[in-house]
Amino acid sequence: MYLDHLECPRCGKTLAGGRRIQTCECGSPLLVRYDLERVGAVLDRQALTARPASLWRYRELLPVGDDAHIVSLGEGMTPLVRAPRLGRRFGFQNLFIKDEGIIPTGTFKARGAAVGVSCAREVGVDTLAMPTNGNAGGAWAAYCAAAGIRCVIVMPQDAPAINTREIAVTGADLFLVDGLISDAGKIVGRAVARHGWFDASTLKEPYRIEGKKTMGLEIAEQMGWRVPDVILYPTGGGVGIIGIYKALRELQALGWIGAKMPRLVAVQASGCAPIVKAYEARAAASEFWEGAATCAFGITVPKALGDFLVLEAVYATHGCAVAVTDAAILEAQAQIAAAEGNFVCPEGAATFAAARELRAQGWIQPEEEVVLLNTGTGLKYPQTVDADPPLLAPRDDLPVDG
Ligand SMILES: Cc1ncc(COP(=O)(O)O)c(C=O)c1O
Ligand SMILES: [Zn+2]
Repeated sequence: MYLDHLECPRCGKTLAGGRRIQTCECGSPLLVRYDLERVGAVLDRQALTARPASLWRYRELLPVGDDAHIVSLGEGMTPLVRAPRLGRRFGFQNLFIKDEGIIPTGTFKARGAAVGVSCAREVGVDTLAMPTNGNAGGAWAAYCAAAGIRCVIVMPQDAPAINTREIAVTGADLFLVDGLISDAGKIVGRAVARHGWFDASTLKEPYRIEGKKTMGLEIAEQMGWRVPDVILYPTGGGVGIIGIYKALRELQALGWIGAKMPRLVAVQASGCAPIVKAYEARAAASEFWEGAATCAFGITVPKALGDFLVLEAVYATHGCAVAVTDAAILEAQAQIAAAEGNFVCPEGAATFAAARELRAQGWIQPEEEVVLLNTGTGLKYPQTVDADPPLLAPRDDLPVDG
């Protein structure tokens, strides 16, 4: 195990890892720090490439102590695919999609769940609880089932219908709330205080982010140990973008990539854009967004615990934060599917809507390498597409010309 300690990015306090732990006593999320010198001494980046294609190939940069505790459904090493037709159409010469649509449970949430549940198992958690916008609940319920951990989930009733079913089928205890993820979070908070359960809410334990950071490790490896110019990420709780930033800083410390960082772009929906509002004011943290609503349900997070870390990643990389309308998201979803055959989730589509806007403003140059993070499959969101094909009787001929 190369985990050295846990560190509070707000007050600087350090704590020992490898035990049941939630946030810092100051309320901030904790970050895992590794002994990167030792990792660098035992691990060669070339040797990595021969390992199995899962996120566990980065074993030394992950916080699980004993392999026996790993819970895996085969997650990670998703493709980084070129999107040449889409790129040509909209003025990008080097457009890529990091495609999380093919990962277990259909979204990148599997990464956080794989590592988070493995660590929970390692420290002896028997019941964990979490609020979710749906996909994290689906992933954590699945990994908890595989780990034999009881999982209690509270989710907004407006979450996609598939999330209810995918959670229920695992046997998890599922509750819907007539409210937002912030309301679900408060219910979970009261329950964990009462029952002594482990709180697996976003950034209330330090290990989910370690799973999500593997997206950053993979992008660097897949590009030949270098980084693109821009990465656009659909930002709700922000764990993914914080994780990608952390991963790239770790790779820099290892000397596996150079000094260049991609400009990180936090993409939100205009119906829920607290990070964008904070960015526009050059603030260090966000404020609660009232009346949050968007078709990209996963990014309906009115106030993120790690907002200051998202903003730090954006500022430090000379990135930006952009809001896009639901209409632009759905248009982008159709454009990606029509050009590349990839039915992406609305959150993933939001990144392309934002990229188009930034390209139009000249913030992205035509030749720059741009990575869109598609965080999940569109198959989980059938309601985002209207289709009304003509119905034929068996004896009908096709009413079209050849
Ligand atoms: C498909 C999808 N994309 C993006 C997000 C946002 O994730 P993060 O917490 O990393 O900002 C979510 C969260 O629920 C999601 O389900
Ligand atoms: Zn602290």
